[in-house]
Amino acid sequence: MSTNGSYRAKEFNLSGLNGISDRTLEMHFKLYEGYVKETNKLTEKISEILADGKVDQEEMPAYSELTRRLGFEYNGMVLHEYYFGNMKRDGSGDPDKGSNFVKAAEASFGSYDIWKADFVGIGKMRGVGWAICYENPVNGRLSNHWITLHEVGNVAGFNPVLVMDVWEHAFLLDYKPAERPKYIEAFFSNIDWDACEQRLQKGMTARSSAAQ
Ligand SMILES: [Fe+2]
Repeated sequence: MSTNGSYRAKEFNLSGLNGISDRTLEMHFKLYEGYVKETNKLTEKISEILADGKVDQEEMPAYSELTRRLGFEYNGMVLHEYYFGNMKRDGSGDPDKGSNFVKAAEASFGSYDIWKADFVGIGKMRGVGWAICYENPVNGRLSNHWITLHEVGNVAGFNPVLVMDVWEHAFLLDYKPAERPKYIEAFFSNIDWDACEQRLQKGMTARSSAAQ
């Protein structure tokens, strides 16, 4: 792993969302910056261990712990970027009927409403984690998944199209712990469906060039 490829926290301009306060967002951005910092720190420490070209037996416990934590921090960083990146002020609620997202949801679930029932249902599951709608890059099929913490349940190689944080820190300043459904409703009203279309477009472009 490169030691000079450290990450920088991205900036997101999201103030004025519907039902998710600026206070929540400011706190959430700070948490996200923590994941970026930890990812860099762990990467650096692991590279120090690797500097002599091997992992010594006595280094193995520390190396293992750092590497396990890296999965948590790395996914925490990346998922927050997807999450902040798929919200915007004055969102439209549901996507346009003619959008590629709706077409993909219909092809995969029978209807957009069934897709949404599944995604929202996953978002209401008990525990800390994420609801993620992925596109299978091979066939364009959408599927929704529960991710525990940040790193357990991500599907390797799949393209995250819509990412929703359902850790309590995402809504606890605005809603009670039992009011997660209200937060999910607010999240939906803020979705940037254009961002989701762009993510889908990447997969479609890759498939069409592979078919040629
Ligand atoms: Fe979060």
